[in-house]
Parts: sequence; structure tokens; C-alpha cells
Amino acid sequence: MTRYDLALIGFGGVNRALAELIAERGSELEDELGFDLRVVAITDLRAGSLVRPDGIDLAALLATAPGELDFSTLEGGSCEPRNQQVIQDGPGDIVVEATFTNPADGEPALSHVRWALEAGKHVCTTNKGPVALHGRVLKELAARHGVGFEFEGSVLSGTPILRTAGRLLAGLRVTGVEGIMNGTSNHILGRLEEGVDFPEAVREAQALGYAEADPTADVEGHDVQLKVMILANEVLGADLRREDVRCGGISHLTPADMRDAASRGLRWKLVGQATRREDGSVDARVVSAALPADHPLAAVSGPTNAVAFHTDLLGTVTVSGPGAGRTETAYALVSDIIAIHQRHGAAGTHHLSKESFRG
Ligand SMILES: NC(=O)c1ccc[n+]([C@@H]2O[C@H](COP(=O)([O-])OP(=O)(O)OC[C@H]3O[C@@H](n4cnc5c(N)ncnc54)[C@H](OP(=O)(O)O)[C@@H]3O)[C@@H](O)[C@H]2O)c1
Repeated sequence: MTRYDLALIGFGGVNRALAELIAERGSELEDELGFDLRVVAITDLRAGSLVRPDGIDLAALLATAPGELDFSTLEGGSCEPRNQQVIQDGPGDIVVEATFTNPADGEPALSHVRWALEAGKHVCTTNKGPVALHGRVLKELAARHGVGFEFEGSVLSGTPILRTAGRLLAGLRVTGVEGIMNGTSNHILGRLEEGVDFPEAVREAQALGYAEADPTADVEGHDVQLKVMILANEVLGADLRREDVRCGGISHLTPADMRDAASRGLRWKLVGQATRREDGSVDARVVSAALPADHPLAAVSGPTNAVAFHTDLLGTVTVSGPGAGRTETAYALVSDIIAIHQRHGAAGTHHLSKESFRG
């Protein structure tokens, strides 16, 4: 039985949910998929680092409230995150990167991913920053080192958009892709349709935990901009920089705009689009658009996300599902590990864990 030892970088909502899935469903996964998962290292800005080459007792760790975790009190623990040391020299076949998204330069996640790939370790991440801004370079680095670099959760959390495009739509010509890829803004648009004004709808979304204290990235399209870059690069083979993707938001919209649109059979949506031009280049943008009722994205309501692929032989294929949520996003990491197992495990991925950690 193959076993993968995981090093978790960042222990917030997503990686903690991954630890919960492994603790609760580990043996189910083992029976169904033929491999075993073990967490051997965790680093976190607040909790510090914990390295146990023989496996961390997840049940004991998860019994402690997130804000109270202090790895320095545990055997193999330190109050420092020690990311570089843990990633490069610590145990772990797969590094799971789930720290915060930095839309400016992708750091520090970019360094985490690079260190891991250069050390010959597989990487899976839910972090849009390094994937959107440096995906091509990182994929080349992974290929050079013969390891996997997977990032399904970076676009629609657990809803399998990238793998649908890469595997299930193989052989089709995809001419364009468009999606509702931010549940917070879609929820806010729904409340505007119900007559709630924009500032109040944002406050409600914050109270529900959908919107951040600073909602700018959600409502001005910056979050979708990174997702459009990933989709355009992965699905249409583009190589876009952030400045190539024009970005608009929804903060100018009012309940009156919604009523006016409804009277004409339209619904306002925040849409991320990437389309192949005649000359082969790719046009990508984030726009607020009033969609006709028969548009595949028009009926997508609330926090649900959806992506429509425009293809030559099938016409439009639309996939919808959750676009956020800690457990949903942790599932994306499980699906990434499955992909790594299928691509690299079958070819004889040996167990790479080091016997000792130079702590
Ligand atoms: N949650 C979702 O629904 C979702 C969906 C799709 C993608 N994602 C992406 O997945 C990633 C993780 O999301 P999340 O919800 O788990 O975020 P989170 O709850 O904020 O967790 C991130 C964790 O990483 C820690 N951290 C930050 N910088 C670090 C560093 N340099 N070294 C070690 N640890 C560090 C943070 O510590 P502090 O708290 O002390 O800063 C925090 O514990 C983000 O990039 C996010 O955009 C999330």
C-alpha cells in the first residue's frame, strides 16, 4: 500500500478541514483509492511548526480550538513557523500550501511552492496567488523535477473545473470560458434584486461570513480576475499577466438597476470571461453584465458558482457547484492528491519521507 506523508503549510480553515477529512475518512479513502495519508509536519504563522516523521496525532490536535494551538508545547514542536526548513529538509512527500492569497506577487506561497518542487516534493495548493501569477514557471519546475503540481481548489474550491476542462473535455476545441466565480458578489446581487441597497447587502454578507471585513476583492472583481487568469492559462493555453485582464465590479449597481433589468428579462451578474480571438490570442476580463434568461449563468443564484465552457462539438457545457467553504476546498486538496497518485504513484512513486528531520 502506498502511503503519502503530508506537510501542511498554513493551518487555517482549509488545511484544518483537510486534517479533519483525513482523521474521519482516512480508512475509507485507503479502501477506495489504494493509498494511505499521514500528516507528518504542519507550519502556521500563529501556532508555530510541528514535525513528527512518525505521524502527527490529528485527533489530539483537532481537539484543541484553532486559536489555542501552540505547537511549541508539543514534542517536535517549535513556536517559529520554520517554513523553509520544514519544506526543504523535513519529512513529507506532498507539500500542501494553504496560506493566504497575495494578489500582488503571490508571496510567501510562491516561495513555499518553489522550495517544495526544487526539493523534489509534490505540491498541491488552494492558493490563487502563485498559480495565477507564476503558474507556467511552477509547472515547468514541477516537470523538471518529475513531481506533481496540482491546484484544483484555486478556482472553484471543490467543484472540479480544472479537471473537467483538462480531462473530460479533452479532444474538444474550447473557444471560450465564462463563469460566476465569486459567491459573495453573487449573493449580494441577489439581495439587490430583493430591494436591499448595496451597503446593507455588503453588511449582511459580512455578518453571514461570506464577505471579508474589507470586501473590495470580492465586489470589485479582483478575486475573479485571478481565477480568470488561471482558467485562461489552463484551459485556453494563454499566458496572461494581471494587467491583461480588465477588471470591473458590482459596487455601482442598485436595486433600481435590478428592477429595470428584470423588466427586460435580464439579470445582473459578475462574470469572468476568457475568449479566444480569431488570431489565437485570448481576451480576458471581469465585467458586470445583464444576462438574458436563457444564458447558462443567468439562473445561478446565491453563493453558488458556475463555469460555462464554450466548445466546438458540444456547444456550451456548464458545471456548477460550491465556490468556497473550508471542507469543500479541502476536498479539492484530496482530489489533487488523487491526481498525484494517479499520475506519479502508478509509475512507482516511492516513499520519499526522510527518516530524520534536521530540526
Ligand atoms: N476558505 C475557502 O473557502 C477557500 C476557497 C478557495 C481557496 N481558498 C484559498 O486557500 C487558502 C487558505 O484559505 P483558508 O480559508 O484556510 O485561510 P485562513 O483560514 O486564513 O488560513 C490561512 C492560514 O495560514 C497561516 N499563514 C499565513 N501566512 C503564513 C506563513 N507565512 N507561514 C505559515 N502559515 C501562514 C495563517 O495564519 P494567521 O491566521 O496567523 O495569519 C492561517 O492560519 C487561501 O489562499 C485562500 O484564498 C480558500
